[in-house]
Amino acid sequence: MTSDPTSFETHLRDSAARTQQLISTLLGDSALEDEIARPAHLLAAMRYGTLNGGKRLRPFLLQESTALFDGSASAAARIGAALECLHSYSLIHDDLPAMDDDDLRRGKPTVHKAFDEATAILAGDSLLTYAFDIIGAPETDLAADRKVQVMLALARAAGLGGMAGGQALDLAAETTVPDEQGIVTLQAMKTGALLRFACEMGPVIAGASAEDRTRLRRFGEIIGLAFQIADDVLDITSDAETMGKATGKDAGRGKATLVGLHGLDWAEQRLDQLVSEAVATLSPYGDKAAMLIATARYVANRTH
Ligand code: IPE
Ligand code: IPE
Ligand code: MG
Ligand code: MG
Ligand code: MG
Repeated sequence: MTSDPTSFETHLRDSAARTQQLISTLLGDSALEDEIARPAHLLAAMRYGTLNGGKRLRPFLLQESTALFDGSASAAARIGAALECLHSYSLIHDDLPAMDDDDLRRGKPTVHKAFDEATAILAGDSLLTYAFDIIGAPETDLAADRKVQVMLALARAAGLGGMAGGQALDLAAETTVPDEQGIVTLQAMKTGALLRFACEMGPVIAGASAEDRTRLRRFGEIIGLAFQIADDVLDITSDAETMGKATGKDAGRGKATLVGLHGLDWAEQRLDQLVSEAVATLSPYGDKAAMLIATARYVANRTH
């Protein structure tokens, strides 16, 4: 049943709706204990930059990787919402004039266009910080030692040696073209790290074995590779209306990508290969991993 694409799409959509609802509640008007006040304008920008129809792929991966080991669904939901807040921050900052200078995101004007640049920067800062708040809060029902592991892994995935560091390498690559290994490293950081986190934390939340964690980590790396190749393909082959963001940007800015280096035929083959690797990596779990495998297929074949 779970390899049926219709069932997969429905499952992803239902999960996205739950993530949306949870983020909306978390970004409510009332200040939390020890918050002094929630400035309305900043909160509006944070809501605008998160409650805007993202695919919610990262919370979904986290949910499914937790379910594979029968871990707490409610803890996974809150950690998934935290991850989505952090991902949304990365997009808000990625679109700023000093970075990719984009006007369209998720089909709407970017946060700095709808508000202003300073508000977009602060909305990003606040979403990043809030991600750790959401995980640390007592409402996240997870043993303290596991929470610490999750928070540490998120810090490492998001910061200097992960997403933010990868964004720095990505911008530097506009002027100094990296070699193939350089591109692989920068993509593993800018995009791969958060996706890997989403997959690897399931076994941590569930208290599964180190072996399970290693397997899901590998699966996350494969998803990260496939995800960025698909993003780069779509940047060439799709359009702004379908994607909800500008396309043709990578060639326009001289961004080094693997697809730019090897071409679209190579990308198609590489994506097939990565799906096979994903299937092999999760084979020890049999049918129980069907939803994660369907997700790998979706990532490789996605159309937006
Ligand atoms: C876009 O991520 C940015 C990259 C990491 C390439 P997504 O394609 O997951 O964007 P949303 O969250 O669905 O808008
Ligand atoms: C962004 O990569 C990755 C992030 C950390 C946000 P891109 O710059 O290629 O993402 P899009 O194409 O703008 O979504
Ligand atoms: Mg970018
Ligand atoms: Mg961008
Ligand atoms: Mg892109």
